Amino acid sequence: MTHVVAHRGYPTVAPENTLPAFAAALRAGATIVEFDVRCTRDGVPVVIHDRTVDRTTDGSGRVWDLTAAEIARLDAGSWFGPGFTGLRVPTLVETLDLLAPATAELLVEIKPPATLDEVKSIIAQLGERDLLDRSVVQSFDADVLRKVRDVAPEVRRGLLLFRFDGETVEIARELGVTYCNPPVDDVLNGPETMAALTAAGVGVMPWTPNDMARWRPLVDAGAAGLITDLVGELTGWVNA
Ligand code: G3P
Ligand code: CA
Repeated sequence: MTHVVAHRGYPTVAPENTLPAFAAALRAGATIVEFDVRCTRDGVPVVIHDRTVDRTTDGSGRVWDLTAAEIARLDAGSWFGPGFTGLRVPTLVETLDLLAPATAELLVEIKPPATLDEVKSIIAQLGERDLLDRSVVQSFDADVLRKVRDVAPEVRRGLLLFRFDGETVEIARELGVTYCNPPVDDVLNGPETMAALTAAGVGVMPWTPNDMARWRPLVDAGAAGLITDLVGELTGWVNA
């Protein structure tokens, strides 16, 4: 079965990385929900993609320069549309509380930099909700994944790639990852990418195929899942 991986929730129907986006992803049939985690100045894990709050809230500044209380006051919905005014940047705890009762797996992307204490905090919050078995923790940053491995070796890990290259398989092996997730073009333009990763025993979930014409070639190439914004559409396509 091809996993339907909801990229930042269901960001075409609700603001990315917000509770309504995650709820919509679950309703639409996502089998994995992906989201991005950063820590505030006072060490609280929150769910937001960018280094700054500028694009997706009415505030400004870097996440790590703001306290959790300051971020909690921001409007994370108005930028998307008038119906979403007043939405908040969710904490990781709030996000996990929403996702925990569902059956979908979690693809938890830790954005660098992340200190060892921050990684410990993120893992602890997953553990407190009994979500470690249902989670894959991924990052573009190998050092973050080393910290995850050291803190919780039993938790599945995923290495995100900006580009597959000659060192990727060796790094994936060293990190002991379950998934290695390259950009779509690496898979479609370079058959050696999928061949090498499959031979190394890791699953591949390309990001972020929003062009439906690319779904069939990616699945035929062996993708374990597709990380997409078009959650409902991909669910319908997978189940057709
Ligand atoms: O899960 C893959 C994808 O989320 C990585 O890119 O920039 O959306 O975090 P980005
Ligand atoms: Ca992400």
